[in-house]
Amino acid sequence: MSSAKKYSCCSPPKLVAVSGVIFYLSSISFLLYNQLNSPTPNFLSPLLLNFPCPETSKNSENSPTEIHHLMFGLVGSAEAWKHRKSYIESWWRPNVTRGYLYLDTTPSPELFPWSSSSPPLRISEDISKLLNETKHVAPVMARMVHAILEIFRQERDGVRWFVMGDDDSIFFVDNWVNALGKYDHTKYFYIGGQSEAILSNVMYSFEQGFGGAGFALSYPLAQALANNLEDCLRRYPNLTSADLITMTCIADLGVSLTAEKGIHQVDLRTDISGFLSSHPQVPLMSLHHFDVVNPIFPLKNRSQSAIHLMKVANFDQSRIMQQTICYNKKISWSVSISWGYSAHIYEEIIPRSILKRPLKTFTPWARNSTGPHYMFKTRESKDPCEAPTIFYLDNVEQISPNSEIITSYVRAAIAPPGLSSCSSGENSSKHIIKIHVFSPATKRIETGRSECCNIDKQVGRDIVKVKIRSCAEDEIIR
Ligand SMILES: *[C@@H]1O[C@H](CO)[C@@H](O)[C@H](O)[C@H]1NC(C)=O
Ligand SMILES: *[C@@H]1O[C@H](CO)[C@@H](O)[C@H](O)[C@H]1NC(C)=O
Ligand SMILES: *[C@@H]1O[C@H](CO)[C@@H](O)[C@H](O)[C@H]1NC(C)=O
Ligand SMILES: *[C@@H]1O[C@H](CO)[C@@H](O)[C@H](O)[C@H]1NC(C)=O
Ligand SMILES: *[C@@H]1O[C@H](CO)[C@@H](O)[C@H](O)[C@H]1NC(C)=O
Ligand SMILES: *[C@@H]1O[C@H](CO)[C@@H](O)[C@H](O)[C@H]1NC(C)=O
Repeated sequence: MSSAKKYSCCSPPKLVAVSGVIFYLSSISFLLYNQLNSPTPNFLSPLLLNFPCPETSKNSENSPTEIHHLMFGLVGSAEAWKHRKSYIESWWRPNVTRGYLYLDTTPSPELFPWSSSSPPLRISEDISKLLNETKHVAPVMARMVHAILEIFRQERDGVRWFVMGDDDSIFFVDNWVNALGKYDHTKYFYIGGQSEAILSNVMYSFEQGFGGAGFALSYPLAQALANNLEDCLRRYPNLTSADLITMTCIADLGVSLTAEKGIHQVDLRTDISGFLSSHPQVPLMSLHHFDVVNPIFPLKNRSQSAIHLMKVANFDQSRIMQQTICYNKKISWSVSISWGYSAHIYEEIIPRSILKRPLKTFTPWARNSTGPHYMFKTRESKDPCEAPTIFYLDNVEQISPNSEIITSYVRAAIAPPGLSSCSSGENSSKHIIKIHVFSPATKRIETGRSECCNIDKQVGRDIVKVKIRSCAEDEIIR
């Protein structure tokens, strides 16, 4: 018998009275079953467990999902927090984002008083008794999974989704709110992302939400998981990955992964700019392994890169890193914008189907595997006309709340190796030092289609203007 406390909803006597009859009829067999099987029959707890959780705060069940409905559970180590703090603080909104940071031990004194820009600190519970009992092969992993139970116990009033993640990940909170808002939080949902590395999915599971990048549990699923978590840790003492244990426990509850493409585990190494410059056409939700990959902006370190990216993300998360491609046939240019991150100029007309593929600037996660490595096709640019002239985000501005947002991109100081100019005539991109991208003040609405853009290049000028707009109904982008 589990020692774990069973979690039920707050205090539903009123609800019981109102819908008691219907509920009684529909759940009579469930109650009987429970009484027969439970060593300590308890009429109330199955009743409560079977009940959708009432939200006691401002909103009713049907209201749109908002930021306060999300509870973040971030799991990290005291040792790494010193330098990872800046990644989390780049996106954490004090007193707006709800959640807690769980560290393995109390961090060193110089981190106190605890920064109000960081998530509130909790120290992971001591589960050594449980570990002794189960002989768990990976105590650290068991601790990470246990954090789900701990955060559920900590705070659940008015929560619709529990979002678990690592301390070396950057979250785009508005996009999580929108993405989770598509699902019914009163049902059982396990939402996460697969790895970009084929081998990671093979070794762990294609059915697993890779936890570093974050996964979300709807309230009823988090509740069911919390109620069974310690028993589940007892069932699987030999699993060596926290994400795999979590998936296995969730699978035992009959729930499967719903994959979201904007959640990025980033099982890639070195320079991921090629990957980020062809982000799939969905809102970006998270970037994990920020500590492993090179700083994403060439002249900045990792913390500066996180702050730089979040600065522009705060103007418009709906477009951040979304790829928009456009052409100027007269000068024979293709331009690919990864909004808020990079801009690429090609002195050739290259179809979207090709430009959508990430440029292989990165290396595989598994250093010595033979491949195939990635869950997507990549491309290389051997011919200088297939290689872009690369620009990275410099600045973002918006003159007034309703005016267009102008992001500017400057030429990368570090040119990719082997790049020589494609053409040298009047239409060469050699002289271009900056690109200004104008995008609408209104958020991008997902239509199943990318946006379109126009390229304005004046002879003799060293700045190119690109205007992002909606595509016309039958517009062919090429
Ligand atoms: C958050 O709220 C607390 C308590 O209401 C307040 O003391 C603190 O200054 C607030 N922090 C920020 C960054 O607004
Ligand atoms: C765990 O087991 C070890 C030896 O088997 C023992 O020394 C230790 O006190 C136990 N810890 C707990 C918390 O039970
Ligand atoms: C875990 O592995 C050990 C050693 O191989 C084995 O004895 C034990 O039965 C395994 N436990 C489970 C639950 O599979
Ligand atoms: C990153 O750069 C900033 C500004 O120069 C500096 O304060 C910070 O210490 C650097 N961080 C690391 C980890 O080097
Ligand atoms: C350069 O672009 C102009 C249009 O702006 C075009 O008339 C001209 O033919 C192009 N030159 C070359 C070498 O492609
Ligand atoms: C790959 O790496 C593993 C572990 O690091 C090592 O045992 C193995 O020999 C390596 N294989 C090759 C082909 O280098």
